[in-house]
Amino acid sequence: MSYRELLARREGRLFLEDVPVAELARRFGTPLYAYARSGLIERADRLRAAFGDAPALVAYSVKANMNLAVIRTFLERGCGVDVTSAGELERALRAGADPQKIIYSGVGKRSDEMDRALAAGIRMFNVESLEELELLDQRAGAAGTRAPISFRLNPDVDPKTHPYIATGLRHSKFGIPIESATDAYARAKALSNIDVVGVDCHIGSQLCDLGPIRDALLRIKQAVLTLRREGCNVELIDVGGGLGVEYSGSDDPPSPEAYADTLLEVVGGLDATLVCEPGRSLTAEAGIFLTRVLYRKENGEHRFVIVDGGMSDQLRPMLYGAEPRIETDPERPGEPAAVDVVGPVCESTDRLAKDRPLPPLERGDLLVLRDTGAYGFSMSSNYNGRTLAAEVMVEGDRAELVRRRQTLEETWSGETIPDFER
Ligand code: LLP
Repeated sequence: MSYRELLARREGRLFLEDVPVAELARRFGTPLYAYARSGLIERADRLRAAFGDAPALVAYSVKANMNLAVIRTFLERGCGVDVTSAGELERALRAGADPQKIIYSGVGKRSDEMDRALAAGIRMFNVESLEELELLDQRAGAAGTRAPISFRLNPDVDPKTHPYIATGLRHSKFGIPIESATDAYARAKALSNIDVVGVDCHIGSQLCDLGPIRDALLRIKQAVLTLRREGCNVELIDVGGGLGVEYSGSDDPPSPEAYADTLLEVVGGLDATLVCEPGRSLTAEAGIFLTRVLYRKENGEHRFVIVDGGMSDQLRPMLYGAEPRIETDPERPGEPAAVDVVGPVCESTDRLAKDRPLPPLERGDLLVLRDTGAYGFSMSSNYNGRTLAAEVMVEGDRAELVRRRQTLEETWSGETIPDFER
């Protein structure tokens, strides 16, 4: 079973669901992110269904796409959320998340962030160091409450993904070594304001191979059995996120069903609720990034297409060498020729595509970068004084603005010029 095609060409024009992308660009301007609601729903429903009747919580990892409308869409489908900062926590709460379906991950939680999450009454803190544990115990005590925790165990497996998004190797900053689980949990049990409720791991992102996931889970299973023998309560087994998507023909991610089957097969029989934290696999393919051709030029042999979106809007090509597929609107006849698609930011690395065969384009044409619904807008910045792009959600033939374009004034609001001469 494959997903419904969200982006399709009809008589030469591109449509996202039933809305022409040219209309999106006209109404909302460019650069622009657009998300197909049915695509988000289809992915959430399919992953949830893949767990069948097994007790499982799909906790959408907000970092992939933190727009309130996107979060709400997943909440409406029964998902929980995985958050990684007070900002994401607050967004999830604003979108209407049930605190008992909120998991708080992250290697550097501040005390004020802990306080907020404790006050909200979240389901579980995924703790990543003993010092964090001690602080969390203190903050829970001060608030007159108890903190439900797991430790993020680092299973030391190679997830076979891009090194920047591999997190489960011994040298990584994440989690605690799995060998130290016994001592860490013993310490947690001894603290008066901590409730041990689970174990957690996350080995990396854009995982296209079930082998490392299975290896990590086998180690987690052993840890669970050991911890239980030592009297620890393990009612939640959080396997993290990471399920990959097919950005190009060379990616071959497992299906949600194969992924869920692997989780159930290895840790499903342990009488615990399975938690997973997918981000990318729920949002990437439902989103597009729209940018308009400003200019064309040739510098020596090199042909450039200069567009109005760049690394401040879409960082993945620059940071990870991502090569998103690009469609053009309108469809242009003519022999494709290799061009560099570059943005307006003053950095040589501000290049969305290198030597990409594209048909001859005109000024004002639209380029559509596919599969950019994850880690697109959420990693954008104001670099070069650029405003944050607008975001829209499409359903059928309707398009709604879900985040208006930032104004210039907003980019400097909060700044002041001190008068040191006074
Ligand atoms: N849980 C934890 C603890 C994580 O660190 C992450 C991602 C996730 C869940 C969600 O992983 P996903 O299902 O989306 O793979 N900016 C990079 C990806 C960074 C992922 C960071 N952690 C990129 O654009 O490829």
